[in-house]
Amino acid sequence: MQGKRILLGITGGIAAYKIAFLVRILKKSGAEVKCIMTPASSDFISPLVLATLSGNPVGIEFWNKDSGVWTNHVEYGLWADLFVLAPLTANSLAKMASGSCDNLVLATYLSMKAPVIVAPAMDLDMYAHPTTKRNIAQIEKDGVVVIPAESGELASGLEGEGRMAEPETIVNAIKNHFLEQLSKKSLFKKKILITAGPTYEALDPVRFIGNHSSGKMGFAIAEYCLNQGAKVTLICGPTAMNLKNENLTLIPIKTAVEMLDAVQSVWDNMDIGIFSAAVADYRPKNVVHEKIKKNDDSLVVEFVKNPDVLGWAGSVKKENQILVGFALETNDMLPNGKSKLERKNLDLIVMNNLSDEGAGFAGDTNKISLLDNHNNLTNFELKSKSEVAKDIVEYLINLKK
Ligand code: CTP
Repeated sequence: MQGKRILLGITGGIAAYKIAFLVRILKKSGAEVKCIMTPASSDFISPLVLATLSGNPVGIEFWNKDSGVWTNHVEYGLWADLFVLAPLTANSLAKMASGSCDNLVLATYLSMKAPVIVAPAMDLDMYAHPTTKRNIAQIEKDGVVVIPAESGELASGLEGEGRMAEPETIVNAIKNHFLEQLSKKSLFKKKILITAGPTYEALDPVRFIGNHSSGKMGFAIAEYCLNQGAKVTLICGPTAMNLKNENLTLIPIKTAVEMLDAVQSVWDNMDIGIFSAAVADYRPKNVVHEKIKKNDDSLVVEFVKNPDVLGWAGSVKKENQILVGFALETNDMLPNGKSKLERKNLDLIVMNNLSDEGAGFAGDTNKISLLDNHNNLTNFELKSKSEVAKDIVEYLINLKK
């Protein structure tokens, strides 16, 4: 649920007090949470509790009478990945079924772009009433997922069906919803290996040879693959970038040799490899164990060749594996790219020219050309790195081996 935006709509039933636990569990599992409430629900749980736990202001009224500021229910509808109404009273259920929108929660429901899940809560006679049954059937027909009320002791003192599902049950329904969404995505359960960032090759305990790679391109690719349902292993050199996701395994490395080790331990098990790292081609032959002193007027360092990590993956690539490499060139982009595609046994190469404005290492944009193993060349415009990531991944999804 990492990073998922969940909007909670709270209506006026006693079970509203349990929403504090729901907010806590959702926050702990990495979701972003916002709460909106009907005025009646604030008699059962303080908006301050929900604002504190969610870390976001709570919406109750259409507008703030003191400041005159209007609460934009359309914004909530656009913000959310999922709208959860819990507890949902018989009254609010009836309004949802009929399209009435006399408060912020219901107006938000009517302008909601995201899927909606509800957890009804009411007394057993109200829950069993044909009107309620009819209203539940109506909202289900409208596409809402209903978590059935549970049996047990009710606030009225009666026993029976009508209790709001427990927060853990609601969380499971939310998790299942996101899992089901993911299972429809094109890369669901595909295992993808990505290399990203620079490598640092030590000269002495305090100095290294590195490069300007920020890792942004590789991280953008990882993020897009995760959103498409993939399980991603990201092997990356030193970078300021960060990404958290339950389907992400992050393996930090420093040197090309460490990157090769990490790649060798996982590549056999992967479906796709996307090697965007800027690996140092050479490393100092001898790492001096004490800090090099500036005693001499010049310094000569002997370098030895680093292993070609992508080249190794290409040399052992299996029939069902897809391998993508990058080529950052300053001249003769196409012939150089083509030669790398063949030499390293790739299925696709992402080429960019360092002389193109906005292309390359540290910035937020890139301008790429894709060359596949059937000699098809596609040139793209200058785009943000996240859009470039989408272009690359969508291309390789449709790539014929
Ligand atoms: N690469 C790698 N390991 C290396 C060098 C490069 O995995 N030691 C990968 C990069 O991640 C990139 C691709 O190979 O996907 C292109 O690297 P590049 O260094 O440009 O290609 P080379 O074949 O080394 O050619 P040259 O440096 O001569 O341009």
